[in-house]
Amino acid sequence: MNDLPPKSLLGKVVVVTGAARGQGAAEAEALIREGARVIATDVTDAPGCRPLDVTSERDWAELARELRESYGQVHGLVNNAGITWRARVGDARPEDMARVHAVNVTGPLLGIQYLVPLMPVGSSIVNVGSSAALTGHYPVVYTTSKGALRGLSKTAALELGPRGIRVNTIHPGYIETEMTASAAPVFRESNIRETPLGRTGTVDEVASLVVFLLSDESSFITGAEIPVDGGLTSHGGVKSVSDALLRDSP
Ligand code: NAI
Repeated sequence: MNDLPPKSLLGKVVVVTGAARGQGAAEAEALIREGARVIATDVTDAPGCRPLDVTSERDWAELARELRESYGQVHGLVNNAGITWRARVGDARPEDMARVHAVNVTGPLLGIQYLVPLMPVGSSIVNVGSSAALTGHYPVVYTTSKGALRGLSKTAALELGPRGIRVNTIHPGYIETEMTASAAPVFRESNIRETPLGRTGTVDEVASLVVFLLSDESSFITGAEIPVDGGLTSHGGVKSVSDALLRDSP
């Protein structure tokens, strides 16, 4: 007798953007392990990834056409592709705003617009936000883009609910990927200091949340925003106060 647990996404067709590396790659692998037929996509060439620039309407239209022909339906979309830009308020340029928002906000909008027509009742969309979107995180261009994505997610949840399509947002804290590796070391240290669990997160810890939100296990969850951040955004900045008092107490 086969006593393996049943696969939660057996046969579901799921598109993941930005899947060449980091969280997207881990999400694609986790979804495949759960039985999904994953279309991993990225703007950069990578083995197993189909080329797709999330800012390109033409790319989305072509992908939708192919999926209609090959599968007829799409059950899941993970809007994971994202870029950062670490200019401060005084240095952020209009062209930076346009470039980052094109990927982080317009990309997910296009994904929803082109794939929703292929989605049956019970489908699920996950937008990858950031702890930045819940706070006044310093890279203003990135923070505003992820804030805008929160708005898109909630509006889409409202509009697609009657069609039986769920839309949720996850907000990763500091996750070890190439994106965070490109920041100054002090960025990592200060994030750990502000994180109640006292460590950074892994791509697999984000991927398991994505699997849950794409599966029928989360069938009554929509319009939700779920941090996966070791508690980073839970304390409203009071962790340093608590830590200081603990240090000073006899
Ligand atoms: P990463 O930089 O390692 O990977 C991002 C992927 O997106 C890359 O493969 C890149 O080629 C792809 N991409 C960039 N522009 C694209 C475009 N126009 N079209 C298609 N693909 C494109 O980043 P990571 O860390 O894996 O981030 C994944 C998502 O998680 C992003 O949305 C990011 O903003 C978000 N996030 C990451 C956090 C972290 O600590 N690593 C924290 C919070 C949110």
